[in-house]
Amino acid sequence: VNISHGNQRVTAVLPTGESVEILLHGATVISWKAADDTEKLWVSNAAKLDGSKPVRGGIPLVFPVFGTAPDHAATSKLPQHGFARSSRWEFLGKSTSESGDASVKLDFGLSSASLSDEVKALWPYDFNLLYSVTLDAKTLTTSMVVTNQGNEPFEFQMLLHTYFKIKDISSTTVTGLEGASYVDKVDNASVKTESASEVSITGETDRIYTPVKKEEPIAIVEGSSKTFNISRDNLEDTVVWNPWTEKAAGIGDFAPKDGYKNMICVEAGSVQGWVNLENGDQFEGAQTITSL
Ligand code: BG6
Repeated sequence: VNISHGNQRVTAVLPTGESVEILLHGATVISWKAADDTEKLWVSNAAKLDGSKPVRGGIPLVFPVFGTAPDHAATSKLPQHGFARSSRWEFLGKSTSESGDASVKLDFGLSSASLSDEVKALWPYDFNLLYSVTLDAKTLTTSMVVTNQGNEPFEFQMLLHTYFKIKDISSTTVTGLEGASYVDKVDNASVKTESASEVSITGETDRIYTPVKKEEPIAIVEGSSKTFNISRDNLEDTVVWNPWTEKAAGIGDFAPKDGYKNMICVEAGSVQGWVNLENGDQFEGAQTITSL
């Protein structure tokens, strides 16, 4: 496995040609390519990769709050989606599979000790995050271990905010959500039940689904073929987001403006309510994306 570790990013290329690239800023996966160089993740042409903003695309990490939580005292002062996606993470190293070069795991860390004083003041808990990105020929696994190192419990939400690159939103559907209850953020947060076995996106969509069978993969279907399977481990919720025309027009770093036709966010997380982590305890949540 060929690893390059610069000051800003880490890249790994398997001998078979698949690759992944992670920015230390936010530990954001900004590229996942097949052996033939096809990119699987959507990244805005106007995304800032210099640390001045969270990255618009790839896989930003949402922690310890999803959106904003004005009514949740402990996280009420944090910016939208928390600080993980806008903090600089440390590259902790790589490991390869025992059988040689078939897969590679890259580890990244962020802890309270490395936060800026301003951020620490907004969320004063003593924590450690270990984020692992594992690549093999067909799959990308991203896993987060949250450790409470302090003397008091804390509550958090987390989410793997994956932007998938797709050919055409008008012929893309999401399966595996039938029967799930969801909060419809574009309809006054009303709670609904998904009746479609294939959910199509025909306008601004922003929904927090809680699938009934959490072990069943959620899939992205393009035309008549499944292109991605997303299986989740210990993450109860799945957000489906597409900004569509108007919202995309209003997002400064979203480009091209019709790029919403070529992306869909399907985001595995734990964002309904709060995970309560006792001092000394750990929580692990992960997704495995299979490219089909
Ligand atoms: C999604 C949220 O996860 O992220 C949306 O459900 C939000 O409500 C979107 O608009 C993008 O957020 P941001 O902060 O990256 O613009």
